[in-house]
Amino acid sequence: MRLALLLCALCCTGTLVSGTGGSRLPDGPPGEPDRDPGLGLGVDVSAPLRRVDPRFLSVTIDASLASQESFVWLLSSRRMRTLAAALSPAFLRFGGTRQDFMVFEPHRRQQWEEPQDAAGESCDQTFLPPWMEERLKCDWAKQKLVLMKEDLLGTYRSFFFTELTVDQLHAFANCSGFQLIFGLNALLRTADNSWNNSNAALLLKYCQSRHYGMSWELGNEPNSFEKKAGIRVDGHQLGLDFIRLRKMMSESKLYQDAGLYGPDAGQPRNHHIDLLDGFLQTGAEAIDACTWHHYYVNGRDTSVKDFLDPEVLDSLALKTNEVMKKVKLASPGKSVWLGETSSAYGGGAAGLSDTFVAGFMWLDKLGLGAALGLDIVMRQVLIGSGSYHLVDDNLDPLPDYWLSVLYKRLVGPEVLKIQVLSEFGRSKRVRMYLHCTNRKRSVKLNSEVLMMVDDKTLPELKGKLLLPARHLQLPAYSLAFFVLPDAHAPACS
Ligand SMILES: *[C@@H]1O[C@H](CO)[C@@H](O)[C@H](O)[C@H]1NC(C)=O
Ligand SMILES: *[C@@H]1O[C@H](CO)[C@@H](O)[C@H](O)[C@H]1NC(C)=O
Repeated sequence: MRLALLLCALCCTGTLVSGTGGSRLPDGPPGEPDRDPGLGLGVDVSAPLRRVDPRFLSVTIDASLASQESFVWLLSSRRMRTLAAALSPAFLRFGGTRQDFMVFEPHRRQQWEEPQDAAGESCDQTFLPPWMEERLKCDWAKQKLVLMKEDLLGTYRSFFFTELTVDQLHAFANCSGFQLIFGLNALLRTADNSWNNSNAALLLKYCQSRHYGMSWELGNEPNSFEKKAGIRVDGHQLGLDFIRLRKMMSESKLYQDAGLYGPDAGQPRNHHIDLLDGFLQTGAEAIDACTWHHYYVNGRDTSVKDFLDPEVLDSLALKTNEVMKKVKLASPGKSVWLGETSSAYGGGAAGLSDTFVAGFMWLDKLGLGAALGLDIVMRQVLIGSGSYHLVDDNLDPLPDYWLSVLYKRLVGPEVLKIQVLSEFGRSKRVRMYLHCTNRKRSVKLNSEVLMMVDDKTLPELKGKLLLPARHLQLPAYSLAFFVLPDAHAPACS
């Protein structure tokens, strides 16, 4: 059975020597003077370490896209639909800071009870006209500046959304093969500081009338509610709010078995995760997976050096282990997800988060996250908000988009054990992760520049056949996927 090898080389050119079944140190390959000494590779293909969800690589859309409702029309761009479909199967999480400032204000309430056509409009008939797409792209560039100012000042205003936002999100998700997760506003509170669920009830009622199959979340980074809105909600109370949401869902035919994920806590800081302990005590039984958020660095204060620093990449392991330990203790067996994650917080680092160099953080996060025990990693963002998007404001796919497509096509859910050893121990700069290949598709790779053929077509992804050899040559500062077609690994059969 075939194996897929993910590689991030954070240094100069090198050579790999493989050894199956155990760790081996390099046996002195004929290193040229300008090359690193060889590295040893220890792999175990007898059985998988673990399996991740087939939707492991998932994506988000930030709620800021709906801050002016017209922008959600971008989701019916033919180009966006094509780009999104190449990333399925996946979750599409709609949420972020502004989800806790969004109030559902429907326009057509009286029509809901009428029988609706469950299938809705066909996926092929609802594309955005090109003139409108151009105009929206242009207006979005301006809107981004407004949003950035709000984020800098940390002052958020509540805003309304109608059926249009939900319809567009659902159609986009459904036609792309994504499962939609909608983040509800947790900052609607009653006088005794418990969650006021009346607006959520209205939204669930609407979604049910449209037969929208979808999952739910409640609140975004609740540990910073006080900073964002001057309202303090502790973990214990938030857990009770989740129990209440689960009860609402259980009373709905459509949502009684739907997914509920949370609490979308911010990442651990100084070995302390605000809120998670209290939340798990009261709310663990309400959720299907425990979600937290992770960014390596601050987008306003970072450099290319950070993006290539193995210590920075390894910080993900420290934080993941901290969260996993807590969840295991409070709720053994509960799935742990990165509910929102990217390179740099604060909207990303322009010129880094949207370029090739971001790929080192992204590919390493996918490889390391799967090995550490995460089941889903949701990339902030597919489109919109900040500079960490996969598809830019002109709807052109960025390097991390292509990496994601390659990952989807080549990498299967079975995680295998692999160690890269230099003469000083575990290699931090050459980072490798091993999976069985994805058995759903077969595809080849190529080193040509990847560009969309047209709005409907992705380029062909052709592979390059390497001659049989004992050594793999690693170009400096490269990212690579190697497929080993005749590996006969029992773990992958
Ligand atoms: C899309 O909607 C159809 C009809 O409601 C449903 O059968 C299908 O499972 C949905 N697909 C996804 C990915 O949610
Ligand atoms: C909840 O919010 C609704 C809508 O704003 C309001 O009418 C209702 O009185 C609130 N309920 C409580 C218990 O605060």
